[in-house]
Amino acid sequence: MLLHKTTRTFSRLNLARQLSTSTSSHRPPRVLVTGSLGQLGSTMVSALRSRFGSENVIASDIKKPTVDQRNAGPFVFADVLNYRSLEQITVDYGIDWVVHFSAVLSAAGERNPTLGLSVNVNGFQNVLELAKNHRLRLLSPSTMGAFGPTTPKDATPDLTIMRPNTIYGISKVHMELMGEYYTEKYGVDFRSLRYPGIISADTPPGGGTTDYAIDIFHGALKHNSYTCFLKAETRLPMAYIDDCIRGTMQLLEAPEHSLSQRVYNVHACDFTPAELAEEIRHQHSESFTINYQPDSRQVIADTWPRTMADDAARSDWGWNPVIGTPEMTRIMLEKLRPMYQNTALDHDVSAAEPAAINTESAAPAAAVLAH
Ligand SMILES: NC(=O)c1ccc[n+]([C@@H]2O[C@H](COP(=O)([O-])OP(=O)(O)OC[C@H]3O[C@@H](n4cnc5c(N)ncnc54)[C@H](O)[C@@H]3O)[C@@H](O)[C@H]2O)c1
Repeated sequence: MLLHKTTRTFSRLNLARQLSTSTSSHRPPRVLVTGSLGQLGSTMVSALRSRFGSENVIASDIKKPTVDQRNAGPFVFADVLNYRSLEQITVDYGIDWVVHFSAVLSAAGERNPTLGLSVNVNGFQNVLELAKNHRLRLLSPSTMGAFGPTTPKDATPDLTIMRPNTIYGISKVHMELMGEYYTEKYGVDFRSLRYPGIISADTPPGGGTTDYAIDIFHGALKHNSYTCFLKAETRLPMAYIDDCIRGTMQLLEAPEHSLSQRVYNVHACDFTPAELAEEIRHQHSESFTINYQPDSRQVIADTWPRTMADDAARSDWGWNPVIGTPEMTRIMLEKLRPMYQNTALDHDVSAAEPAAINTESAAPAAAVLAH
């Protein structure tokens, strides 16, 4: 009897999963991207549009897009705290998949825990309900910040102690568990990756603990010096954005039967501020100097892994990062150098504590440096 019931439950879930993952084989999926104007969103939207066509990727955020962003394809206002507006977009645009990038990151979340909880927990719950009610595939990234001070720090496995002590980490563990719960209970096709710190030149970072690994390049090019908010020996996992977005696309498109789990560690490279400074000296300027003024972000970094084991991501859906620290350094210097040619700034803002308490005002550090 029990076996019979289990079999029935399973076939119901399988049917729901098939419905949720299949779009007509004759057309590409329609994808909604939340938080598309953040550090990762705009690159993800470009990758999705190259793959599925501009008209099939609906970018959204609560911020105003630039003219270029608006002209690049469909853009709508979407506050993830408003379920009805998400539902309206889903119905109006015939959405099949959601890439959920709206979040309040680690340092910003510690500055404003109420906002962090609200966006990361309630916003995710709305998107999860949306996926359940409209049979959507849902990809929502997690983070190495989901680990905590008692987690093993080296080669941290997928399944281990998870007792984070930041609002960001707590809300991401909640997200992972709720996603898995909805997969088991309702057949929602939920997928997630635990990103390391993501390094990019095109969009400013959104208030995370690894932002130094971007700011340092602006400091090097502008002042030939940088004051770092983490200690010299703080090793953290990182990835260049191209690897991150390529991997995210791979997981998003992976056949569901290839997934042995719903949440995957991904790791591309790891370094300390001192090692990154040395690489910048090597590639940019031998006289580059770095000073250390650890602030509240050091306390967060001390609870995170130094390296993550990502064997399951590699074997299940082909995670294969190709950009290591020297190559990432070369790309960052090359992309940012034009911004600093013929400009001069009289003060170093690189070490500033994050002024922002939310993701909107956290962003412009790099832009400030640029002017
Ligand atoms: N950037 C990293 O290094 C990193 C590392 C690990 C995980 N992640 C994860 O990747 C995802 C994207 O991160 P990111 O760096 O692009 O973040 P970001 O802070 O740069 O962007 C987040 C976006 O969410 C938007 N947003 C905030 N509140 C919203 C609301 N109520 N409704 C709709 N949108 C709202 C913001 O306007 C912003 O554009 C997040 O889930 C984050 O946790 C990022």
